[in-house]
Amino acid sequence: MNQSNLSLPSGCVLRKATSADQWSIRLLVFSAKLDPTQLNWQQFWVIEYNENLIACGQLRNFSGAQELGSLVVASAWRGRGLGSLLTQHLINTATQSLYLECLGQRLVQFYSRFDFVPISFEDLPQFPKTIGLSTLKEKFRFSQLAKRLLKVPVVFMEYQGQTNS
Ligand SMILES: CC(C)(COP(=O)(O)OP(=O)(O)OC[C@H]1O[C@@H](n2cnc3c(N)ncnc32)[C@H](O)[C@@H]1OP(=O)(O)O)[C@@H](O)C(=O)NCCC(=O)NCCS
Repeated sequence: MNQSNLSLPSGCVLRKATSADQWSIRLLVFSAKLDPTQLNWQQFWVIEYNENLIACGQLRNFSGAQELGSLVVASAWRGRGLGSLLTQHLINTATQSLYLECLGQRLVQFYSRFDFVPISFEDLPQFPKTIGLSTLKEKFRFSQLAKRLLKVPVVFMEYQGQTNS
């Protein structure tokens, strides 16, 4: 589904993050107990209201692929379409094959609305190695281990909708 008809609540602004946002981003990500690694502000998009960050999300870069990650909406702002708007924006901004990992069926359903489809770890493609970048599979291997050993309900998803390239 292309959710391009979504609109921001009045007073909210969607913009690229700046270095001044880095601690607010960390706070949002930590408060949601999401992966605390690779939180480079340069990769983030944020939504602000009255000069406060109320949502963030990023595209992490890997060899031949990107990961939609760190999607958080401040709890007081949830259920108003901000998460959907940011997700659609990140999809539109992606320049490589797009993947994500999430926990639990509610999030799987959320991302399915945007044409993300569950994919097994084994079926994740092995993209050619680019100097200076690790592969997505290397990163997801940790989650796969947690899934197998600790029964953490991690789901890997691949974007199979239309791309801009
Ligand atoms: C997931 C999240 C970003 C959605 O943001 P949002 O602005 O509330 O989303 P929208 O208003 O656009 O859409 C609402 C949908 O979000 C999903 N959602 C809302 N709260 C959720 C929660 N606590 N857990 C999982 N999914 C949730 C549901 O699919 C919901 O649709 P429904 O009400 O029909 O079930 C937000 O709940 C959040 O920040 N959660 C904590 C961090 C997180 O889990 N991020 C995802 C990492 S993969």
